[in-house]
Amino acid sequence: MERLQKYLSECGVASRRKCEEIILNKKVKVNGKIIDELGHKVSDSDYITVNDIEVKKKEKEYYILYKPEKVICSVKDEKNRTTVIDYINTNEKIFPIGRLDYDTSGLLLLTNDGELANMLTHPSHKVEKKYLAKIDGIINLKDIYMLENGIVLDGIKTKKAKAKIQKIDKKNKKSFVELTITEGRNHQVKNMFGALGYKVLKLKRTNYDFLTLKNLSIGQSRKLTIKEIKKLYNNAKEKSF
Ligand code: URA
Repeated sequence: MERLQKYLSECGVASRRKCEEIILNKKVKVNGKIIDELGHKVSDSDYITVNDIEVKKKEKEYYILYKPEKVICSVKDEKNRTTVIDYINTNEKIFPIGRLDYDTSGLLLLTNDGELANMLTHPSHKVEKKYLAKIDGIINLKDIYMLENGIVLDGIKTKKAKAKIQKIDKKNKKSFVELTITEGRNHQVKNMFGALGYKVLKLKRTNYDFLTLKNLSIGQSRKLTIKEIKKLYNNAKEKSF
């Protein structure tokens, strides 16, 4: 049994807040009877309608995509450019969990499971995301220390991170740095390097929690296994506080 507003939002009716409004506006019937209280509990065996149209739980879908560069990370684009959704073969209304920039490639999760998406993107959740950045310049150890211990962006220090030099190209004055962060602030990786005076020339997300891009080529996707979905849920619960 679960609360009516949660059930409706899981059916894809609207956000949980909006569903509360819909309930209070007497638009929802459970087994033919208008229910306008938020605490009402329902289950899959109930016949539930919104504006007299039946709503049912959708099958949950979970995908991992190796996002190419130059692809928009949203459900729709007003200029009709290719979005990450175009890479997934489904009729379900899926959306990306978090964002990768237009010019960032790498590991992206997509789902129609709002609950998991909320858990994974909530600031209290400390899921590790690993990026490989190609930067302009030769990075020094002081800056690696700075990346790991926090850099003030928009007045707020970034949380502890892990940074590792993967390769230095002395001839062309470029560095390749692996940066593992637990937050998901806007353009965080680019801004962290930017604050230290480095321009990010290429950025790829290689890991999301325990997930990697293994066996995926650019533009390819696959469904997550039940085991992977359970592990994401369990880790999300464990790591939140
Ligand atoms: N940080 C960035 O700067 N860009 C991304 O796409 C992801 C993390």
